[in-house]
Amino acid sequence: MGVIGKDIPHDSARGHVTGRSLFIDDMPFARNELLVDFLGSPVAHGVIESLNVEAARKVEGVVALFTAKDVPGHNTFGPVVKDEQLLVEETAMFLGQPVVLIAAKTQPALRAAKKAIKLTMRSLPPIFSIDDAIAANSFLGGERVIARGDAQAALASAKHVLESSLTVGGQEHFYLESQAAIAYPGEHGAMTVHSSTQHPTEVQSLVAEVLGVPFNHVTCIAKRMGGAFGGKETQAAQPAMMAAIVAAKTGRPARVVYNKDDDMRTTGKRHPFKSWYTVGFDDDGLISALDLKLFSNGGCSTDLSFAVLERSMLHSDNAYFLPNVRITGRVCRTNLPSNTAFRGFGGPQGVVNIENIIEEIALTLGIDALAVRRRNCYGADGRNTTPYGQIVRNNTLPQIFEKLSADAHYATRRREVESFNASSKTHLRGLATTSVKFGISFTKKTLNQANALVNIYTDGTVIVSTGATEMGQGVHTRVRQIVADELGISYDAVIVGATSTDKNHNTSPTAASSGTDLNGAAAQDACRKLRARLAEFAARELAYASAGLDFSCENVRFENGTVFDARDPSRSMRFVELICRAYIERINLGERGFYATPGVDFNRETGKGHPFLYFTNGAACSEVLIDRFTGEMHVARVDLLMDAGECINPGIDRGQVVGGFIQGMGWVTTEELKYSDSGVLLSYSPTTYKIPAITDVPETFNVNFLDNPDNTVSLYRSKALGEPPLLLGISVWAAVKHALSFAGPKRQIPKLDLPASVEQILTVITKQTKAMRTPGVLAPSVSS
Ligand code: MTE
Ligand code: HPA
Ligand code: MOS
Repeated sequence: MGVIGKDIPHDSARGHVTGRSLFIDDMPFARNELLVDFLGSPVAHGVIESLNVEAARKVEGVVALFTAKDVPGHNTFGPVVKDEQLLVEETAMFLGQPVVLIAAKTQPALRAAKKAIKLTMRSLPPIFSIDDAIAANSFLGGERVIARGDAQAALASAKHVLESSLTVGGQEHFYLESQAAIAYPGEHGAMTVHSSTQHPTEVQSLVAEVLGVPFNHVTCIAKRMGGAFGGKETQAAQPAMMAAIVAAKTGRPARVVYNKDDDMRTTGKRHPFKSWYTVGFDDDGLISALDLKLFSNGGCSTDLSFAVLERSMLHSDNAYFLPNVRITGRVCRTNLPSNTAFRGFGGPQGVVNIENIIEEIALTLGIDALAVRRRNCYGADGRNTTPYGQIVRNNTLPQIFEKLSADAHYATRRREVESFNASSKTHLRGLATTSVKFGISFTKKTLNQANALVNIYTDGTVIVSTGATEMGQGVHTRVRQIVADELGISYDAVIVGATSTDKNHNTSPTAASSGTDLNGAAAQDACRKLRARLAEFAARELAYASAGLDFSCENVRFENGTVFDARDPSRSMRFVELICRAYIERINLGERGFYATPGVDFNRETGKGHPFLYFTNGAACSEVLIDRFTGEMHVARVDLLMDAGECINPGIDRGQVVGGFIQGMGWVTTEELKYSDSGVLLSYSPTTYKIPAITDVPETFNVNFLDNPDNTVSLYRSKALGEPPLLLGISVWAAVKHALSFAGPKRQIPKLDLPASVEQILTVITKQTKAMRTPGVLAPSVSS
């Protein structure tokens, strides 16, 4: 009994460690199958002057070459705005944008063909940075605003005003399985595409459009991904479209698997941001006004940039009440691969601003940063409405701050850190607590729906299919648990089928952390319909078996693989027996379920509404140790406290919290995207792009969950937690900022951008110690 709330291992756990899990490129080669690669633009912005593929055609093993004019349907695509060309027609918008598709029998043939293609391009001036885009007035879409009260007036009357800017770097997804797809041509224009995608329905529709066939001709199947992190929400579509074009044109199966370097160089990343802020506050650090201007680097096309920006704006308050606020946002258009979804989806880039601002308020006033956080935290009446008008309900943040600071001995350790910094000549320590209040639901209302298909077979086993895709986060395991629980059968009797668009229609991407909330609820709906039907049948069967006694379906229970009368459990039969009899009596043993999140809505024009069903909350307390002479930083201890409601699978949830936090820590510390002046990504492989290693995991790492039985809005009182823990990585950055405030002879507000790389840390230390020797250039000093 009781599959919900149990530590059932992830259903791919064994497969992943034994290497038996199958990924796209593990699929056996079909007869005649072709390998596909592309030649990309050699410049970030430029016009094709001449292109000659004749020599490449003659390369042994090369079967076909295609350019934009060969695309059977639409070459221009996009998930929201159709503003990117799959194959460059005239003007390349980013370095490596595909120009020629190459289909060959072998990898060496692909490489030789690439070399043999003669492509010359005339360069146009490229734009890479947010500053350059602003100067050139290069934007995607218009300005967005979310505002409340009168920020300008409140700033004018504020006791203290602080003004500065913050630059936030992007992040490479670094999923272990690169983008990949295989397309199998069928009869009458049909196409089946196996894709490593978070969004099979979008792959289906974009493949149909690029081929110029109706949607019902294309089936997209997604068994699993070797990690995605948002990087396969939209950008799995390009390799799928390439494979499909080759398959359609040649009539042969076609496989595209990016190598790691190409994947890193040519796919989009987390959006870099730059912001300017002015904040007003009183002597206690209570914020009265905030004016925040956000700019994101969208890359060459829209992709999901508007939704990412929107989520940034909706998270710029984070856990804190801002009475007068004006948040504006714009997406910069640059000549980089289009930036895209990445765990947190703009939320982290919004939250880091206010967390940074709070650190600066604390340093300005010489008071404790956590005290400032708690003072500004959303509270009861009058202080519980977000800038966009949603009321913060079941708010566990004050409790989280209370419990975490006690568990982590925050106050004592802050004092220790201060005295350490006063005496150490070699090292600096820093300690900070930051929080997260992450809105759960897609901000685009339509996407908050899901459908499920549950089939029961005559041996009592079950297959459940939903639109949810498995990327390691455990959605399939949770959905299996839910179906097993609803039908009262064992977990092992349920299997989740590969996600496929011919079983589940018009599915949303598995994203916004809502995979289980949406698809689990749809599966639950299907199970409840089946149960109702079976209960009625069971009532009749059991009554018959017990010589015509009264028996109503309300009293039928499904538990432990048996079906029984709640009033007299001895009147029972095994689930499998019921199913066999039901089949013989021609009772339908398959059902569809549906779920649409109730009550969510957001108006983009007014910037007001109720975009989220609920919030997932948490806080982290991180301590860092910095070497003053090398800038090397080490995370000594981290304490996390998450409110995840009641976990459906505590073990998997813990994995999500730990993994998400470490990924966030990488973003704010070592992961740095470096480009050459011509836009070449220099950090394009594991040797130059540093994600956290096992040795970077904090020595002391306490992960705890808050008991919250009051969250009743979601499935089994659970809360989504795929993305929220990532935002707690910001505590490590805040701890670095805290440490650096001690670098000079007097406490200062260090200007620290993200990531806090070793180089940046050393630069800040050097500046502050130099400032010490050069009177007159000191930043405004603050007392402690
Ligand atoms: N966990 C693993 N192991 N691999 C991933 O790719 N993606 C994250 C998160 N956790 C990811 C992951 C992202 S970006 C999201 S939105 C959620 O999982 C999506 O799954 P869920 O909605 O089922 O939580
Ligand atoms: N989160 C993640 N992915 C999305 C969203 C969102 O809010 N909207 C569209 N795709
Ligand atoms: Mo996650 S960034 O919503 O795929």
